[in-house]
Amino acid sequence: MSKKVLITGGAGFVGSHTSDALLDLGYDVRILDNLSKQVHPSGFPTYLSKDVEFVRGDVRDLDSLARALRDVEAVYHFAAAVGVGQSMYEIADYTATNIQGTANLLQALLWNKQEIRKLIVASSMSIYGEGSCLCRCCGEVAPAERTAEQLAGKDWELHCPICCGEVSPLPTAEQKRLRCASVYAISKKNQEEMVLLFGKTYGIPAVALRYFNIYGTRQSLSNPYTGVAAIFASRLMNGNSPVVFEDGNQLRDFVSVHDIVQANLLALRSSEPDGMALNVGSGDPVSVVDVANEIATHLGLAASFMPSGKCRIGDIRHCYADISKISAVLGYRPKVRFRQGMQHLVEWLNCQHAEDHTHEAYAQLAAYRLVA
Ligand code: UD1
Repeated sequence: MSKKVLITGGAGFVGSHTSDALLDLGYDVRILDNLSKQVHPSGFPTYLSKDVEFVRGDVRDLDSLARALRDVEAVYHFAAAVGVGQSMYEIADYTATNIQGTANLLQALLWNKQEIRKLIVASSMSIYGEGSCLCRCCGEVAPAERTAEQLAGKDWELHCPICCGEVSPLPTAEQKRLRCASVYAISKKNQEEMVLLFGKTYGIPAVALRYFNIYGTRQSLSNPYTGVAAIFASRLMNGNSPVVFEDGNQLRDFVSVHDIVQANLLALRSSEPDGMALNVGSGDPVSVVDVANEIATHLGLAASFMPSGKCRIGDIRHCYADISKISAVLGYRPKVRFRQGMQHLVEWLNCQHAEDHTHEAYAQLAAYRLVA
């Protein structure tokens, strides 16, 4: 029996760590990756294992996909454009890569008529929109996105849709209604739904993993549209202060890439999650300003940052994971605590070079009036 696994987008942060873990377990790994300049400015990444079979190609190209799929028994579909802010003005590119790219993958699977034992797609917590909330008077509520007027008045917190009082965040579970607030989120919802529907229709075990905010080694330090931990690290390594949006107290669930790999392997090797969408997070809320402070402290720098008082259109206020479903279904247990993970990240940063391009990214957002 072939044990070959294809990872689309496998040269990236999550894909390469997953690939290392699969190789350790004795799988053969094929990677399909276009080595996008924004993510890989220096070309082929030096961290990629020599034991992988590397195919340079793009998910927007059906033929590359059909070739990459030959003889594989499982597929991780990670190739995607990932910037929430950028998705709001590179609409056609995000749609082509994320939605059409996924459609191409499914089409190629169908044409190849091959027996696939597992199809796992990288979904995202961004599809929830705002996370679940508790109102002291009305109980659990689902507030809508903040309005432009509210943000202009720097009223950052969410309000109860019933009594208008302030609400506090709760862990967000899979059954929460999805309310996408960015083109990126729409594309992820689409990917998830297409993959699960395809799996159901053709009897292919398919799983969507709703990743929360992943951080760790190998996250691109020169891509200004990547996750906030890498952006802050790049700013600090270049002697610049992190730009903290809003008041910095927005909460996310920062999950180590090693815990993401744990979930990826569990989902591959168990049939329990087939047909499901599962949250993958740490289960702990952490504020954005705490991420800046933690990285600065570990780098030996002063840690007190003035929030910018501005916000990115398309951002949500709070969301962190309820991980009870994945814990019950797969026995997933996050192993890396935030402090420990950040310390490990900084040890790696100390031997990295980072180009800080965030000023260009912010100028683009401002030009499209996507910063308020
Ligand atoms: C991130 C990922 C998305 C993933 C999702 C899963 C990126 C670019 N986005 O989206 O792919 O699917 O998590 O949860 O990797 N912020 C600042 N200053 C900055 C940049 C960001 O204050 O310079 C703030 C943002 O306003 C936001 C928070 O940090 O409040 C998180 O932003 P970001 O890292 O882009 O993550 P998400 O939008 O949550």
